[in-house]
Amino acid sequence: MGTGARTWGTTTLTHTIQIKCTDYHKTKRNNLQKWHLNEYREMRRFVKLTVCAVRLYSGGRPPVPLGGRILTDPDDIFQHNMWDHVQWTEEEREKAQQKAEENSKDKIPLEEQSKYDREAHTYWDRFYEMHQSKFFRNRNWLFTEFPELLPPDAAGTESGNGEKHQPCGSSTLTSETDTFPGQHAAFRILEVGCGVGNSVFPIISTIRGRKAFLYCCDFSSRAVELIQEHPDYDPAVCHAFVRDIRDPTSPFPFPPESLDIILVVFVLSAIHPARAQGVVKSLAGQLKPGGIMLFRDYGRYDLSQLRFKTGQCLSENFYTRQDGTCVYFFTKDEVHHLFSNAGLEEIQNLEDRRLQVNRGKKVVMHRVWMQSKYRKPYLTSASV
Ligand SMILES: C[S@@+](CC[C@H](N)C(=O)[O-])C[C@H]1O[C@@H](n2cnc3c(N)ncnc32)[C@H](O)[C@@H]1O
Repeated sequence: MGTGARTWGTTTLTHTIQIKCTDYHKTKRNNLQKWHLNEYREMRRFVKLTVCAVRLYSGGRPPVPLGGRILTDPDDIFQHNMWDHVQWTEEEREKAQQKAEENSKDKIPLEEQSKYDREAHTYWDRFYEMHQSKFFRNRNWLFTEFPELLPPDAAGTESGNGEKHQPCGSSTLTSETDTFPGQHAAFRILEVGCGVGNSVFPIISTIRGRKAFLYCCDFSSRAVELIQEHPDYDPAVCHAFVRDIRDPTSPFPFPPESLDIILVVFVLSAIHPARAQGVVKSLAGQLKPGGIMLFRDYGRYDLSQLRFKTGQCLSENFYTRQDGTCVYFFTKDEVHHLFSNAGLEEIQNLEDRRLQVNRGKKVVMHRVWMQSKYRKPYLTSASV
């Protein structure tokens, strides 16, 4: 119920707090629909009530807001680097669609395409060889957006997903009987496509000493080495390994249905869209009943899609960068199909639409990310 309340609050916020922005390079005030002050106050009151209701349900944790910086006065636009919950006008949507159509008109010939899939891990290895751990920033929003990652403090207490945690039977075994890393943990997380650990290390520092264990994998052996060489890497709470998540036959270092959480952050977009369904299905098999898949990735018409030049498109909304790595841009419906076809139930499926502001250059850009949470159903008496 706690999670349900959170979802309801967030969805309502996303749909209700809408600021329509058109062309920011033209006269700002005329092109921006301002809220009526009373509506705004009413909204604030509603948000406060929602926050209180959600806190009641979620054991004092804040709701999942996808940011709360709302642009209400167009004159304020250059006051911050980012505005949240920005909705596009029809005109902006059409412009974006047009740009995407233009940059995807000329596709890379089919005979050249297979190397981007076949040699994908080599491109990412080179990427990490060049950038080491310096390219991506730590995912500091992780616990705000995904409180489900927080382990229960003790067996049977409430976990971050707002539910009573049921410890797995294996946690009673002694170390002599260990058959897999993290066997004694009461709460197990897997991050796939973990890169050099921008989520791994924030998670390690949070779960240490809390009967929880983190697995993380990437198909770039260089990325996994960088994680293992990191001073905060600790095999007592984390096991990093090389694995290509496109290959369902490759073994995991834990039994099926033993994970509470699988974190899938900016990795499905790196995989050919035709393979995404197989990946999600195979990952879903690793979740315990009641376990949750947490997903964040690029959304359709994000700035980074519209910036592609012609000649970089592999198929609709799927591109390759200069360095050979690939990226797909998802819609909300596509995300829903991916996870529900894998037998998971929606907790949350949102488009995170923001306005990024370059205050120095006085330029604004639309960012679009997808954020979703899907749960593996508990066994019902009918299904046992
Ligand atoms: C954009 S990076 C994101 C890294 C990390 N999740 C983060 O958010 O910082 C994509 C990562 O997915 C990994 N990746 C791509 N395809 C993969 C696959 N088939 N199996 C495992 N990892 C993969 C890449 O090596 C890369 O580290």
